[in-house]
Amino acid sequence: MAVDLLLGLQWGDEGKGKIVDVLTQGYDIIARFQGGPNAGHTLEFNGMKHVLHTIPSGIFHPTATNLIGNGVVIDPIILKKEIDDLAPYNVNLKQQLLISRKAHLILPTHRLLDAASETAKGKAKIGSTLKGIGPTYMDKTGRNGLRVGDIELSDFQQRYRNLTNKHEEMLANYNVDIQYNLAELEKDFFQAIETLKQFQLIDSEEYLYQALKQGKKILAEGAQGSLLDIDFGTYPFVTSSNTTAAGACTGLGIAPNAIGQVIGIFKAYTTRVGSGPFPTELFDEVGETLTQVGHEFGATTGRRRRTGWLDLVALKYAVQVSGVTQLIMMKADVLSGFETLKVCTSYLYQGKEIKHLPYNIEEQNVTPVYTQLKGWHQDLTQIKDYNHLPQELQDYVAFLEKELEVPIKVVSVGPDRTQTITR
Ligand code: GDP
Ligand code: IMO
Ligand code: MG
Repeated sequence: MAVDLLLGLQWGDEGKGKIVDVLTQGYDIIARFQGGPNAGHTLEFNGMKHVLHTIPSGIFHPTATNLIGNGVVIDPIILKKEIDDLAPYNVNLKQQLLISRKAHLILPTHRLLDAASETAKGKAKIGSTLKGIGPTYMDKTGRNGLRVGDIELSDFQQRYRNLTNKHEEMLANYNVDIQYNLAELEKDFFQAIETLKQFQLIDSEEYLYQALKQGKKILAEGAQGSLLDIDFGTYPFVTSSNTTAAGACTGLGIAPNAIGQVIGIFKAYTTRVGSGPFPTELFDEVGETLTQVGHEFGATTGRRRRTGWLDLVALKYAVQVSGVTQLIMMKADVLSGFETLKVCTSYLYQGKEIKHLPYNIEEQNVTPVYTQLKGWHQDLTQIKDYNHLPQELQDYVAFLEKELEVPIKVVSVGPDRTQTITR
């Protein structure tokens, strides 16, 4: 009786969507536990590409139930669009998708507040996806939020109005020019609320408790990554939820002793989108190659992702915070063609060499110390067997396992479902 977790260990976009889709065949329930439509999870199979923002990545498997948990923040407008986009495919959403009544709603004014906050910050902006995530979680912890279950209440309109009025006052207090037509935004919002009402809105913690009792296998799908965690990430350049293992407990209502495997996923190099420190960032042609070969452009915003070498200090930290029991390494194919690969194995911090992630990792505090490994030139994208991978890549994997002290069970060599090598 256990819930396995799938967590991003870097700054997001590690390939969670692809791997959840691959792993779903071994599970009965896939459950998202935090974040919202700031996520963009990409799945590729049968020559098609799908990007999911709110709907869990197990949705293309007809036997799996997909749950949007209480820890998630839902923008009904974006969810409706995701639902509409799935219409041509053989997905029975009314049956396969469950939504927690305790999940919070992103209102149109939350998005406006996000934009106002970012504009007001100027150069110091977070680089938010502007989906209203921060303001919605602020209303949640401030005890003002609206939840999915509220849409079933007779006074939902009034509750909505009260909160929106408050938001409009807050917007007026920002000294920035945000143009908006609230009536227009509200039309879409209330239409989407009607769509939401047609789905199964449930008390999801009870549902999961019963499912566990019946021996159902559950996989919790994380969004974002450990270094974007509100507590353990590179604050304030983070998102507003707990992306690490503990977030799955509060975001689904499962007890810590119900957690089984903690599967950590990372890219063979590092990327980051938005602002904030990134010690191993590359500004040279190597960085440019990683961006181009890895198609490092955001699945949600289309923004160019910053790229750099793998940072084992940061990765080890993420492994520790979540108690990761097994690892999955993504995008190994993107590293083909380099003579030498660098991996950051310690930091020079205020003149001293350290192996742990310090409080400040800005450029002025931290210089990465690299270990060099031999690269390989073969194209990996058609390889199916781990033993057929170039020896240099197998050495790269062995080196990481030794440093991280956790086994790497899967190596991904391309975006498609089939380009996944299990050891
Ligand atoms: P997520 O947010 O963690 O689900 O990741 P994203 O979908 O935002 O970004 C991962 C990107 O890498 C997507 O475009 C995937 O299709 C792609 N991808 C996933 N695994 C691999 C891989 O092993 N190799 C390559 N080249 N691309 C991959
Ligand atoms: P997935 O699930 C990568 C980043 C934003 C910004 C910061 C705060 O696809 O891995 P927010 O919109 O939460 O206010 O943005 O977090 N960010 C992500 N970066 N992948 C994501 O999700 C992200 N979700 C948020 O770029 O720096
Ligand atoms: Mg993504």
